[in-house]
Amino acid sequence: MEEAYLHGFIPEEQQRLLDQGNYLAPKIYSRIDFSGCTNLLEIGSGVGAQTRELLRLWPELRITCVDYSEAQLAQAKKNLAFAEDRVSFYCQDARDLKLEEQFDSLFICWALEHMPEPVRVLESAKKYLTKGAKIWATEVFNSSFYLYPDLPNQRKYYEAYNQLQISLGGDPDVGAQLGNLFKKAGFGSIEIHHGGFHLDQSKPDELQKMLHFWTILLKSGAPGLLEAGLITAKEIEEMESDLISVLKDENAVFFYQFVQAFATN
Ligand SMILES: C[S@@+](CC[C@H](N)C(=O)[O-])C[C@H]1O[C@@H](n2cnc3c(N)ncnc32)[C@H](O)[C@@H]1O
Repeated sequence: MEEAYLHGFIPEEQQRLLDQGNYLAPKIYSRIDFSGCTNLLEIGSGVGAQTRELLRLWPELRITCVDYSEAQLAQAKKNLAFAEDRVSFYCQDARDLKLEEQFDSLFICWALEHMPEPVRVLESAKKYLTKGAKIWATEVFNSSFYLYPDLPNQRKYYEAYNQLQISLGGDPDVGAQLGNLFKKAGFGSIEIHHGGFHLDQSKPDELQKMLHFWTILLKSGAPGLLEAGLITAKEIEEMESDLISVLKDENAVFFYQFVQAFATN
């Protein structure tokens, strides 16, 4: 059912989503609050990396996971086996949901960025939300990225990576649009928040961890970039060397902001 997708569905990518979930959880869940909710709909749930965290943080929650990839859902079932009585799964395109119940909460993370019609996705979910349901979305804002020193190979790769996402119908800056998208979908009480990283040589260990994470994230797009002819194998290596060299610069800076939006139905 899935269409061409920036990160692909290979096992390494499925493991990357779990590692990413662990690494970013302290940032993502410092603000999100689903207390009082019991029945949550998660759109673009992937291999269940966020679902696992949601189940742990809010023990009252039952979660319905929707993803259009059979492969992701099969892996999610394994990853969430520890709570199998609290999760259910639907293989559907999020633009055209066909569900059987109403939900008092909606969660979306790193998924609208890949969906060509994000308002349609939100409208589709809205049909299954109770009045007053809590909605939290966390999404990328790739134009917020700043790296010092500004190295040409990593810049070229990053531009190609974002270009590929756009050509596949996604939006690498969808985070910046979350408030507008929520408004268009008819949600109220909209709040916009920012989270992210501003790292430098004052915390070299954290900077190193982030550069490692970032390299793996960017490389997850490599097969698609090669296939689209947007980048060569040599340019992938050069991007990696650039990112390794950042750590050696006494003025190194890594800055990135993601966006979180809250609303009610
Ligand atoms: C980057 S992954 C994020 C997964 C999970 N939210 C997380 O944070 O680990 C995006 C997921 O959205 C799914 N996806 C993309 N477009 C979709 C669509 N139109 N309908 C349903 N799922 C979709 C992909 O299959 C993928 O599993």
